[in-house]
Amino acid sequence: MNLNLTTKKIDTNVEIVLVKNKKIKENKEMLKSLNFKGADEECILLPELKKLYVGCENDDHDSIRIAVATAVKKINSTNFTSAYIKVKSNLSSYVDGFELGNYTFTKYKSAKDESVEKNIYIEVSKIDKNTQKEFEESVAICNSVNMVRDFVNTTPEDFYPTIMAQNAVNIAKENNLECKILDEDYLVENNMGSMLAVGRASRHRSKLIHLTYKPSGKVKAKKKMVLVGKGLTYDSGGLSLKPGDYMVNMKSDKGGGCAVLGILNAISALNLPIEVHGIVGAVENMIGGDAYKPDDVLTARNGKTIEVKNTDAEGRLVLADCLCYAQDEIKDIDYIFDYATLTGACVVGVGQYTNGIMGNNTKLQNEIVQSALNSGELAATLPFNRYLKKTLKSEIADMSNIASTRYGGAITAGMFLDNFIEEENKDKWIHLDIAGPAFVESAWGYNPAGASGAGVRLTLEFMKSL
Ligand code: BES
Ligand code: ZN
Ligand code: ZN
Repeated sequence: MNLNLTTKKIDTNVEIVLVKNKKIKENKEMLKSLNFKGADEECILLPELKKLYVGCENDDHDSIRIAVATAVKKINSTNFTSAYIKVKSNLSSYVDGFELGNYTFTKYKSAKDESVEKNIYIEVSKIDKNTQKEFEESVAICNSVNMVRDFVNTTPEDFYPTIMAQNAVNIAKENNLECKILDEDYLVENNMGSMLAVGRASRHRSKLIHLTYKPSGKVKAKKKMVLVGKGLTYDSGGLSLKPGDYMVNMKSDKGGGCAVLGILNAISALNLPIEVHGIVGAVENMIGGDAYKPDDVLTARNGKTIEVKNTDAEGRLVLADCLCYAQDEIKDIDYIFDYATLTGACVVGVGQYTNGIMGNNTKLQNEIVQSALNSGELAATLPFNRYLKKTLKSEIADMSNIASTRYGGAITAGMFLDNFIEEENKDKWIHLDIAGPAFVESAWGYNPAGASGAGVRLTLEFMKSL
């Protein structure tokens, strides 16, 4: 699909018309007789009139994205080669609808895609610098979201830590980023026993990925941001093995790490005046004679000891060492965010479409929620408290890797990570539990079944607002 901006009407196979607020303005009788009501995800194609009417329940950004995605799917089911739409405002939401709604994951389908390339013409009142910028930025962000979707949807057989590292190298080359890939020797030398333990039973060696973006030319970085991602290319649960039906889709446990790669991929297109570090712990959690065990005590890079009570609470063990690495290597941080498909409890708490936002800084958490909503993602804060903190105590080590209560699992996981945030960074840290939206089994709005690219758009929106 090619998106083109134009300032005049183009004659195409079909014109897309969004029917907003259920107010039908043309061909009223015909649409009424066809029982068209203009609800979300409702559309009707009138080929003789070369019109595609799509319901758009409100005038808000997400209604537009959903309506445009509905139109794209309808057009993709035809052999049309072109379509036209007139846009008065909110251009970026239309671009999102086209680019994100057009995504399909066909890597493992044997039948080749023989559909014809489609040209979409978006008419705007004028194509000035601002319009062009809004258009190009939206396309770049959507491309990154779709790249993350591809990564996360790819099977663990085809996407393991070394492949994740290779993808990071490619992203760095394409975007002029600095890139460091650190292997297990580095982890041993730097006492990263927590991350090391998780990957021990895998035939794939763990990798620590570190990408750096610095603004180009004369642009001075105004802020320094660190993004840390959980990159579990597969989570079997380890010796605390997941039951079969809970293991399905655990290829998505790399969603946080992939989001970090996606953000770093988009950032140079946006040319923002921020220094951004992307750090990913790429690890596979497996079983075997060399697997780490419940009862082991691990020592993280900052010297803190962790009693393992459940090897399925592995993401926090990887993140613990990655957070220590980040704060040792990078000084004078303004923001440090981590992204992780960390807990099933978060999905239970806020539902599968919403990111859980945690940390010590309420104001910053609220800003993230607002950025998420502005970008088309959903987010809700989950507050820490002293009582839940006590449930992480261990009799023999500094802390346990799971809580002693079965309630509040998203928050206790977040509070576990807090042990690895240095005092000076406490207020700068945000933990995003993306376990729900990173991967949803069935399609929702303009998101396909499977990976959605959660975390990318909300973060880029936050960065743009700085
Ligand atoms: N990767 C899972 C969390 C998860 C669950 C992500 C469902 C996406 C969908 C994580 O490593 C995990 O297994 N967490 C455990 C923690 C428990 C052992 C304290 C969980 O949520 O059950
Ligand atoms: Zn797990
Ligand atoms: Zn996991």
